[in-house]
Parts: sequence; C-alpha cells; structure tokens
Amino acid sequence: MKLLWTKNMSVGIPQLDEDHKRLIRFVNELEMAIDGSLYSGIVDAAEFEITFHRMENYARQHFAAEESLMQSLHFPGIEVHKTAHCGFLHKTDELKKQYSGSTSPRDAQKIVKFLCAWITDHDYLMDSQYADFLYEQKHPPVAAHLVSSQSSTGYGGRVATKSAPR
Ligand SMILES: [Fe+2]
Ligand SMILES: [Fe+2]
Repeated sequence: MKLLWTKNMSVGIPQLDEDHKRLIRFVNELEMAIDGSLYSGIVDAAEFEITFHRMENYARQHFAAEESLMQSLHFPGIEVHKTAHCGFLHKTDELKKQYSGSTSPRDAQKIVKFLCAWITDHDYLMDSQYADFLYEQKHPPVAAHLVSSQSSTGYGGRVATKSAPR
C-alpha cells in the first residue's frame, strides 16, 4: 500500500514538509521494487539497496535540519527527538546488514513495513511536537520565513494539534 503525505502531516515549514514528502516517495519507490517482483518472485537487490541507501542519506540530512531548527528554538524535547532519529538510523543499519543481497520479496517487505510505520508514527507523534511548539512560540525568524509560503493560513498550512494561541 502506497504511503501518502496529507496536509495534516504538515509541520508548517515548507522545506521540512518537502523532506517528508521525499522520504515518503523513497518508501513508495521501495514498494514499487517489490511490486516489480510479482511475476519473477525475485526483488532486484541492487536497485532496492541503492534506493534504501539514498533514503537513509536523505533521512540523515533531514534529521540534521530538524535538530538544528529545534536547537535554535530551544525546543525542550530536543534530546528525546534526537534519540528517536538515532534509533531510526541504528535500525536501518541493522536491516541493511540483515538483508544485504537478499532478493526475497518477504525480506524487502519487512524493511518497507518498518519504514512506513516509523515515518508515519514519527511525523504524527514527534515532528508534530516541535511543529506545535513553533506554532505556539511564533518564533520570529521562522515566522518570517513562513510568511513567504503559499499558505492560506499564513502559517505554512500548519494546523496545530493543540489549541492555537489566542
Ligand atoms: Fe521529520
Ligand atoms: Fe524528526
């Protein structure tokens, strides 16, 4: 099943939303590689691993961007958030080692299943926290950045999951 980015996943910062969309596209590309094995029963391991590797590198850069934002905001949940990012990279490393060279669609599906669950949960449960914090603080430098977005709300499309400031 393909993952979809929806507006309620928005963190209110266009650049970070684009990163999330790209990460989802990577996962969908991996899923398509599995779909391609439908008749042969064999996944193209080289193609799958290249995409997985690219997704991992992209995630690393995205995490660095988020952590730098959280640092600049003095976001109180930064350490827990960094630990979650670290846990993801540790797990992807483990999966790479475990399934390296495997052409089994079932092995590839295990990887995709993990990525789908982690990305969705992390976006809803953790990225939403700094997004809400940012929204509540209306941090000036980021707020200035958001004004230039194409949003009808003027806040990058972000809808706070907590109550909006009065
Ligand atoms: Fe994120
Ligand atoms: Fe994150």
